[in-house]
Amino acid sequence: MLPKFSSKAFLAPMAGVSDPALRLQCKNFGAGLVVTEFTSIHGIIAKEKQLKENQKTIQEFIEFSEKERPISVQLFGSDIQALAKAAKIVEPFFDIIDYNMGCPAPHITQQMAGGALLQEVNLTQQIFSTLVSSVKKPVTLKFRLGVTEASRYLFKDIAEIAEDEGIQMITLHPRTVSQGYSGNADWKMIKELKEISNIPIVGNGDITTPEDAKKMLDETNCDYVMIGRGAMGNPFLFEQINDYLKNGTYQKYSFSSKLDSFFEYLHLTKNYKIKFANIKGQAMRFTKGLSGGSKLRSKITFARDIEELEKIMKSAYCN
Ligand SMILES: Cc1cc2nc3c(=O)[nH]c(=O)nc-3n(C[C@H](O)[C@H](O)[C@H](O)COP(=O)(O)O)c2cc1C
Repeated sequence: MLPKFSSKAFLAPMAGVSDPALRLQCKNFGAGLVVTEFTSIHGIIAKEKQLKENQKTIQEFIEFSEKERPISVQLFGSDIQALAKAAKIVEPFFDIIDYNMGCPAPHITQQMAGGALLQEVNLTQQIFSTLVSSVKKPVTLKFRLGVTEASRYLFKDIAEIAEDEGIQMITLHPRTVSQGYSGNADWKMIKELKEISNIPIVGNGDITTPEDAKKMLDETNCDYVMIGRGAMGNPFLFEQINDYLKNGTYQKYSFSSKLDSFFEYLHLTKNYKIKFANIKGQAMRFTKGLSGGSKLRSKITFARDIEELEKIMKSAYCN
């Protein structure tokens, strides 16, 4: 059974961005669910020996904290045996196992994973039934419309198979794989998916404000919304969405609260092994929309370590 979610707004998985520190921040601001960055099933299996011999814990390769719960782990990869094995390895640690069928990156689609699977109906069916029968935790799916414009309705067949095989919730990012991030997410497709589904549907794509979140919920009738880029350097969005859905108003955050929030993020990163390049990327995102932000970002580019980065970000308070 799916856990109970405290909010209709979820944080999207984002490789290199939704690290455990940002996830915890979003959770603290009211995200109903957080999802790990996608993780290779082969990568998990490669660590199994160390896990079994107890020299390492799962935290060595998928970092998270108990405070993030409910937390979903996202897997990618289509080798059936490896999938069953990887799912069993991660199952004890996570509340949901999510399967990625949307990633458009060529290094993923070329290994018959991510969005490429949308055109592989038989394999997809095998993947879902393997996952669902291998674990007791709920299995969910995140996908795109189809591979190309000509196959933009593939999601309907796949959704039907997913539901038949016991997938418990589906997230749709309504762009095709070949679209990447261009154009607009076609929210009408979320509505169409909701109409043919008997399981909860999560709408995703192009939500950057509380108003957007409400609009998607109203227009598509989806059960939950998932936010990716809109939450980058902007964990407040979850509180704002929750307030807006409840009261029709929300608090705006000032320049200095955005900076405070970056330092809070930085403080949280100390508990994890997050790459410095990724932390720098987050610093850039926290300065988005701030006056003097572009000047600040060019300074951030040259920061060589955390101390330098802290100095640069502190200097922004004086602007
Ligand atoms: C930098 C980045 C990394 C992403 N990594 C993942 C990922 O690991 N797994 C996944 O399912 N989607 C991934 N996505 C897609 C997002 O989860 C989301 O579906 C997409 O960004 C659309 O939502 P948005 O308009 O709210 O950003 C990624 C997106 C971005 C921008």
